Amino acid sequence: MRYIQYDSVSKMVAIQVENLVMTYGDGTKAVKGISFGVDEGEFFGFLGPNGAGKSTTIKILTTLLRKTSGSVKVAGHDVEHDAQTIRKLIGVQMQDTVIDEDLTGRENLMLQGHLQSLHGEDLRTRVNELLKIVDLEGAANKRAAYYSGGMKKRLDLASTLVHQPRLLFLDEPTTGLDPQTRATVWSYLKQLNQEQGITIFITTQYLEEVDRLCRRLAILDHGEIVAKGSPAELKQEIGADAITLGFGNGTTGNGTAREKAKQILTGLSGVTNIVDADGGVVVYAKNGGFMVPDIVRAFDGANIRLSSIGVSTPTLDDVFLKHTGRRIRPEELDKSRGSGRMFSRRR
Ligand SMILES: Nc1ncnc2c1ncn2[C@@H]1O[C@H](COP(=O)(O)OP(=O)(O)O)[C@@H](O)[C@H]1O
Ligand SMILES: [Mg+2]
Repeated sequence: MRYIQYDSVSKMVAIQVENLVMTYGDGTKAVKGISFGVDEGEFFGFLGPNGAGKSTTIKILTTLLRKTSGSVKVAGHDVEHDAQTIRKLIGVQMQDTVIDEDLTGRENLMLQGHLQSLHGEDLRTRVNELLKIVDLEGAANKRAAYYSGGMKKRLDLASTLVHQPRLLFLDEPTTGLDPQTRATVWSYLKQLNQEQGITIFITTQYLEEVDRLCRRLAILDHGEIVAKGSPAELKQEIGADAITLGFGNGTTGNGTAREKAKQILTGLSGVTNIVDADGGVVVYAKNGGFMVPDIVRAFDGANIRLSSIGVSTPTLDDVFLKHTGRRIRPEELDKSRGSGRMFSRRR
């Protein structure tokens, strides 16, 4: 393949970003000098809270937005000089769908093909193939206006695949979908990656799915990469169990109770880190289970009431919390967005 590029250790590089900076016209520094690479065939997760700069980065990588500075190569081509070539090699699904609700599912895919200069029997075959892949054969001749949210999202995904891209960029493809549809979309993505070797670059807020499917990930916060690695590496870095402590009503909003609790926890041996979360705190400690009695005893002596206590091995959620000081909350995001905006028409 023409676009494959080899780096010093002979790995095939699909995306190479060096010192990427994006400052918007109004002075907003959305991306502040990030660097990362994605190998050919990789399933790469790009995570971060709202406003971290994920969409900005994906728009630059897909040539939809011009960077301020730095170097970005996609499929071996420079985004600045070879935007046209890159566009032919990639598929892009942005946060809002681009399907036309006046057209049927099939017509949407045919239109997409025409926009990519595909015609005739080849295009018809490709469209049939895609309708099958995303399970829309039965609804192919229905107007997209009558599709459910999940069907629209699947059609949108299919429309990014018409020209057989080797590299797929997805900006929060499952946000706002019900859990079942979300699982279906992720399983299509897994299939595309594993069976067809398509490189996937995905931004999302669903950490469990990232944990299961992404080989590597980067966490972005305030325009900077704060963590990078495989899910296992990042979880291991925490090197301790997470003990989540909730305080009873009345103490939750009371800074002094929490501060007092944190002071006590700091004094306990084995504690490696303490982070505020959800009105309570998360304490990281080796052999967390053994710490619980110590914590309860110490709090009892200081008259601090606990409403809940839980111990778990670290998850990506803990990794996220450690590096951003926040928990990711896709459920809230789903509620606040609703399905209306997610699937609004563009044309
Ligand atoms: N066109 C724009 N002009 C100015 N600021 C913008 C524009 N688009 C996004 N931003 C700002 O850039 C930052 C990163 O936004 P974005 O890339 O959309 O983050 P994310 O996708 O991670 O939620 C935010 O502070 C956002 O308000
Ligand atoms: Mg975004």
